Amino acid sequence: MNYKDNLNLDKLPKHIAIIMDGNGRWAKQKGFLRASGHKEGTKAVRDVVEGCAEIGVKNLTLYAFSTENWNRPKLEVDTLMKLLVSSLKKEIKTLKDNNIKLNCIGNISSLPKKARQELLDVIEKTSTNTQMTLTLALSYGSREEITNCIKQIATKVKSEELSEDAIDESVINEHLYTRNLPDVDLLIRTSGEQRISNFLLWQIAYAELYFTKILWPDYRRENLFEAIYNYQNRERRFGKTSEQLS
Ligand code: FPP
Repeated sequence: MNYKDNLNLDKLPKHIAIIMDGNGRWAKQKGFLRASGHKEGTKAVRDVVEGCAEIGVKNLTLYAFSTENWNRPKLEVDTLMKLLVSSLKKEIKTLKDNNIKLNCIGNISSLPKKARQELLDVIEKTSTNTQMTLTLALSYGSREEITNCIKQIATKVKSEELSEDAIDESVINEHLYTRNLPDVDLLIRTSGEQRISNFLLWQIAYAELYFTKILWPDYRRENLFEAIYNYQNRERRFGKTSEQLS
């Protein structure tokens, strides 16, 4: 089936988030080092980003490096950081050609200086692009994000900048890294694992979850179109009954 031709482009998810999993297993299956799985994973990143821009998805967020990933062997962490720098250098043209704005969520201050500088540079150079926002979650952990959010709000309440009664969902949204992004509509995880792994816990409250066995380096835009097609054929009730919706 050609999923792209069967998509309803007026009902695309406003925000797609992806847990790109399976790089290590892809490499192991082929007898390669884990690093080559990550390298191959960058090809999937490019294809999926272009696929989103092609059909008009407005927001794509990729889980590129979690707070927990710092615990991986130093060599693997170094490889991932180097890949980030080389991909940013290489893909700035893809971002410009497709009018894509780069954004980042996570504790960027913990990234190596070179990676941080390159990232901020590309964010700055693409800041006026309007077709789509590509957000990279880097050194990101949802619990850390929520903890920081609570601390910031508590400080404002203490200094009487904010009253306790004024705290509502929108105030919380404004104090998260994702403050400028809509809620996630569709969350995809590759490689057959069915976990959230500390990713966007607040923002996925009503997201549709989609799991595929495909390993991330093998994932391409056609697979994404299939996931969106599947999403469009689900009934999102947001706590209501089916009858109320119709
Ligand atoms: C999970 O696979 C993947 C990661 C921890 C890193 C994702 C990074 C990339 C796709 C490449 C760089 C990305 C950008 C945006 C430049 P895993 O290593 O946990 O795989 P496994 O579970 O099979 O071991």
